[in-house]
Amino acid sequence: MVDVEEFIDEATTEISEAIGDANAIIALSGGVDSSVAAALAYRAIGEQLTPVYVDTGLMRKGETDQIRETFSFMESLEVVEAQDRFLDALAGVTDPEEKRHVIGEQFIREFEREAKETDAEYLVQGTIYPDRIESEGNIKSHHNVGGLPDVVDFDGIVEPVRDLYKDEVRAVARALDLESVISERMPFPGPGLAVRIIGEVTEEKLEVARDACHVVEEEVAEHEPWQAFAAVIGKATGVKGDNRVHGWVVSVRSVESRDGMTARAQNLPWETLQRIQSRITGQNDNVARVVYDVTHKPPATIEYE
Ligand code: XMP
Repeated sequence: MVDVEEFIDEATTEISEAIGDANAIIALSGGVDSSVAAALAYRAIGEQLTPVYVDTGLMRKGETDQIRETFSFMESLEVVEAQDRFLDALAGVTDPEEKRHVIGEQFIREFEREAKETDAEYLVQGTIYPDRIESEGNIKSHHNVGGLPDVVDFDGIVEPVRDLYKDEVRAVARALDLESVISERMPFPGPGLAVRIIGEVTEEKLEVARDACHVVEEEVAEHEPWQAFAAVIGKATGVKGDNRVHGWVVSVRSVESRDGMTARAQNLPWETLQRIQSRITGQNDNVARVVYDVTHKPPATIEYE
C-alpha cells in the first residue's frame, strides 16, 4: 500500500510540472479512478482543468446528479447530455465488441468537441494499474485506455494514478475528502449498463438493468463485495397475476476481488438473494425471473459482455 499523503504531494507536484500554465481536460466517469485523478489535477492546476462528464444514458441510477453535487466546487465542470445520441448509435447493435466500439467512438466524438472548445493541451486520465495490464493483454477493448489521444492532438497525457491498485485509489479518495459514495463506489465499466445487457440496448432493457443494479448494490452492500450488479440476459416465461408472461431474465452477480483480474462469486445468504429477487420482480412487471451467477473469474468475466 502506498503512503497516501506522500503520494498526494508527489502526484500534485508531478501534475503541476507537467501541465504548467496550460489547460487540461479530464473525462469524469462517476467512478473513483477518474474522480481521484480529477481531484488531484484540480489541486494542482485549479480552474485550468475542465472536467467533462458525458451522460451516455448508460449510467447507474442517480449517477449524474451525484456527479453534479460532488464536483460542484469545480466551476469548470461540463455535463454533456448525450443520452439520445448514444441510444441512436446503439440501435440494432448486438455484437459485444461492436457495442463497445460504438460506445467508444461516440464517447470520443462527444469528448473531442469539448476538448476543442476548451483549448485543452493536456489530457488527464484516471487509468489505474490493472487497466494497463488488461489492455496490454488485450483481454477486452477497454474504452478508457487508448483511443482518445489518437483523435485529439494533445501535447501530453497525464495519468496520476497509473501505478495504483483500486484499494489504493480508494485510500487516496478518502484522504482527499471525496464523498464516500464516490470513494467506496463499486467499479463500473466504461461502456456502462450496455455490457450488462445481452443483445441490443433498448430503453426498456436499460430501465430494468438500472433499477435492478440499484437494488443489488443496496442489498449486498453489507457483504462488501468488490462488485455487485444485475444484468439483463434474455427472456423466459413467468406468471404474473393470472397470466403467463414472456419477461426478462435478470442475472445477479456479486464478486470478491482485489483488482478485477480474477474474482470469486460471493456466497450470499439465501435471505439476501430472496429479498433481491422479490424487489426486482416486484418493481418491474416485465421481469419474469431472477437468477444468481455462481461462476468465478476465470472462467467467466465479471461483466457479461
Ligand atoms: P471483466 O468483465 O473483464 O471486468 O472481468 C474486469 C473489471 O473491469 C471492469 N470493466 C471495465 N472497466 N472499461 C472500464 O473502465 C471497460 O470497458 C470495462 N470492461 C470491464 C469491470 O467492471 C470489472 O471491474
